Amino acid sequence: MPIDESSLSVLTRSRSATIRARLLAWYDASRRDLPWRRDPPDPYHIWVSEVMLQQTQVATVVPYWRRFVRRFPDVQSLAAAPIEEVLRAWGGLGYYRRAHQLHAAARELAARGGTFPRDVPALERLPGIGRYTAGAIASIAFGRRAALVDGNVARVLSRAFHPLSGAGDAEQRADCWRIAERLVPAERPGDFNQALMELGATCCTPAAPRCADCPLRRSCAARRAGVQDRVPPARRRLAASTVEVVALVALRRGEVLLERRPAGGLWAGLWDVPSEVAAGASADEVRGALERLASRVGVAPSACRPVGEIRRTLTHRRLRFHVYVAWVDRRVRRDGWRWAKQSLDGIGVSRAAQAVLELVRRGGAVRATARQPARRD
Ligand code: ADE
Repeated sequence: MPIDESSLSVLTRSRSATIRARLLAWYDASRRDLPWRRDPPDPYHIWVSEVMLQQTQVATVVPYWRRFVRRFPDVQSLAAAPIEEVLRAWGGLGYYRRAHQLHAAARELAARGGTFPRDVPALERLPGIGRYTAGAIASIAFGRRAALVDGNVARVLSRAFHPLSGAGDAEQRADCWRIAERLVPAERPGDFNQALMELGATCCTPAAPRCADCPLRRSCAARRAGVQDRVPPARRRLAASTVEVVALVALRRGEVLLERRPAGGLWAGLWDVPSEVAAGASADEVRGALERLASRVGVAPSACRPVGEIRRTLTHRRLRFHVYVAWVDRRVRRDGWRWAKQSLDGIGVSRAAQAVLELVRRGGAVRATARQPARRD
């Protein structure tokens, strides 16, 4: 059962006031100096940082964020850019769908003059902006009393208010939202939310939380019960199965054949080396995928030389690329294909495709382009 109003009575006014005061004092003393934390805050900067921070940690995000806002300093410049450039600036952060949505939302905003909505319901109507991101923008950029819960906040609240009453993950998340909504103050809501997230990221960590440094140690129920490192329980991850992919690097006169990834799927809209998913890992299944791929590219399977394997681990699956290289005679053109310089200057390709090309480069295939068959067409 999710927490109801009566069980929220554990959150008395005075307990809420103490938690807010301690958390904000801790934040004032130990907040990280991050480039989007400026006074006054820029909603566009906050928005980009929050979308990036859903993917990975602060330390990884900072250089991406700097490059991104240098290239696209405001909503208008982001809206005016071709999606391909946006994907390139995003390259490496993963979850390219978020970059697509950021771009789509920028276009919607630019079409209405570039002004950000200030409240949660209006923010949530923009592509890619859910309850968390809307709460972050409304509170941090506009000082609105809006709550947010991400993984770090959920951990802090599950410990401080242990035991939550919800039975499953979803109910416990709902408990956290109710508590966060109660706790977030009208004064400095953005700092309060950032303090909660920062506490979870730096102090109230999943394993071995540093309780001695925690501003909430005296009001933390999990610590009192001595269960802080078991709450919330670690999620069991399902073993990711491996998908076998055959990738073909087709070369011709210093150029490489690229194929655009379909919209909506993995690495949507990015350029990639042509590939086919094999039915399984057996030699016959990989061979079958290579034959389909070779026929699509217009080379004989026997002309495709194996170069090696690349492994990539994504959130929910593992990929093993069986990499082949072939030199082609003709610069075949087709919709969604392009021939590009091997330096790939200015072209948005996935990190997996970069790794495939790098393998071929290191394997000597690029050097060997000088020895490719003479032009026949
Ligand atoms: N994690 C995600 N957004 C954050 C923010 N604004 N401050 C600290 N940690 C965060």
